[in-house]
Amino acid sequence: MVRDVMQNHLTEMLLLVAMELPQNSGNISEVLACKQRLLQQIQPLTNRALLLGQYAAYQNECLSDTRINQCREYTPTFGAAALAINNPRWSGVPFVLMSGKKLDEKFSYIRVVFKEGRYCVRKENSACRSASPRQLIFHIATGDLQQPIMVTASDSLPSIVRTDGWMVGHLQEGDFFGEAISSSHQLLPTDAVDLEAYTRLLEAVLGGYRHLFIDSGSLLASWRVWDTIVKTEGKRKPRLYQGGEDGIDVLDFEVVSNTQLQFALRDKQKPVGEIEIEVPGVGVDSLPAMAQIPGEFCNAQLVCDTTDSIITKLANDIQTVAEASIAERGVFHLALSGGISPQGVLERLVDHHLTFPWTQTHVWLVDERCVPLDDSASNFHMIHRTLLNHINLPYLNMHPMPVLLSDDPCQSNDVGDKLYEAGIRRQVLNASMDFILLGVGKDGHTASLFPNHTETEEPEKLVTYSTGGPKDTQKRMTLTLTAVNQARHVAILLLGKGKHKVVSRLLQEEELTVNEYPVTGVKPKTGVLVWYIDRPAFFGNV
Ligand code: 6PG
Repeated sequence: MVRDVMQNHLTEMLLLVAMELPQNSGNISEVLACKQRLLQQIQPLTNRALLLGQYAAYQNECLSDTRINQCREYTPTFGAAALAINNPRWSGVPFVLMSGKKLDEKFSYIRVVFKEGRYCVRKENSACRSASPRQLIFHIATGDLQQPIMVTASDSLPSIVRTDGWMVGHLQEGDFFGEAISSSHQLLPTDAVDLEAYTRLLEAVLGGYRHLFIDSGSLLASWRVWDTIVKTEGKRKPRLYQGGEDGIDVLDFEVVSNTQLQFALRDKQKPVGEIEIEVPGVGVDSLPAMAQIPGEFCNAQLVCDTTDSIITKLANDIQTVAEASIAERGVFHLALSGGISPQGVLERLVDHHLTFPWTQTHVWLVDERCVPLDDSASNFHMIHRTLLNHINLPYLNMHPMPVLLSDDPCQSNDVGDKLYEAGIRRQVLNASMDFILLGVGKDGHTASLFPNHTETEEPEKLVTYSTGGPKDTQKRMTLTLTAVNQARHVAILLLGKGKHKVVSRLLQEEELTVNEYPVTGVKPKTGVLVWYIDRPAFFGNV
């Protein structure tokens, strides 16, 4: 099955190409940990990222093949998928996996295409004359002796460093991916390599080379990547192609982004007899066109997608920032809001981010209701139930807000806000949280800063008591906008149709004041602000 090949073999090859190198490549657990970390950073596929094809004779061949017990109309015999890896090294770089039957040749390869590195001011400059791509092709053994193992590199790339067991050659005949092979050089093994795949498999089993096999953690992490695609399997009509030398051009595709592919021959040019039905409700056409989504929102970056994708993307971004913060300062300070919106993200972090660096993370509260911590209305209670209870965060790294300094919460002479602020100033460098996750109430409040309340515009303090919440949680403790705007990364999360009015108001009313709509006061001084808004909240109709 094409999807199996892509989900297992090709994903494994992607890991080998893209994972961070282990300190000791001979250490199996280090190799597996590097693979698993990368798997965690691969954004789960959505339907936009996948193209499917089926060769015209498949149905007849399938029906006449007694070994196959079910010939489904939509069984793909060709697949192409774009995968995005959310980490600083591969951010924005598309990885395309492709596999199929009845194509023009039986050939397994890894192709690395380098962006045009040099732009010449003088157009005649010969250094830029070669329009051909700068690429590396790793020819993978397919068990077909016609395909020697080798690496082909464009001459325009830096020359290959010679290593033992490999020699440099110059093939003259043929071309590769639009480039005359004479403008490339090859790296070939000096000794004969046993291509027999099953021999290699038995060697690995008997030799106990566990790193050559997928371990359960990687399998679970790989399923996370492919889960959405598996759910729509068999419901999405593949594009028909004739197959062979002349019958596969209809499968040519363009990489729209690192999460979206589209066939080059689009609807109006669709070959005669070609039909392509997306699964109602999950295909591209059933969602408002991407074109309606601006790149920015309230002068900040906007991420807008299906609810699941938003949750996935935000969880990935939190881990990416965590790893970068820890690499830079040895610690990650994360401040979380209460309410409903963050819960999906916290659950995702627990279920899918097995390598999250919790031992070097501190979890702070953005705000808290003045209720006992074991009260279901408590934000700490929700964060503990959803996240803290399931991760290996050191006890002293949990920072609930001190709302219960006496029998009754938030007494007028309590100094809980000052204690919390002192804790932040003591433990957080420059009192700048590394990541703050905010929600937005329907009245435009954020944290526990409510419209027409003076604490919303508190200029100095980092933490304060506030009022203005709904009657049962009227009194609160909250970070101020001063604290929020000192953070390095701020995410504002809006999920669900119920927040469409908030989105519309923010889009339509440029002149909203902070006092009217406190969330408009979130303007990080030097930090990065990103709005994460799902389609129901943005469009209000899906
Ligand atoms: C709280 C939250 C609050 C929340 C908004 C949005 O204590 O209630 O911190 O600021 O983020 O009210 O809540 P929902 O995410 O539940 O819509």
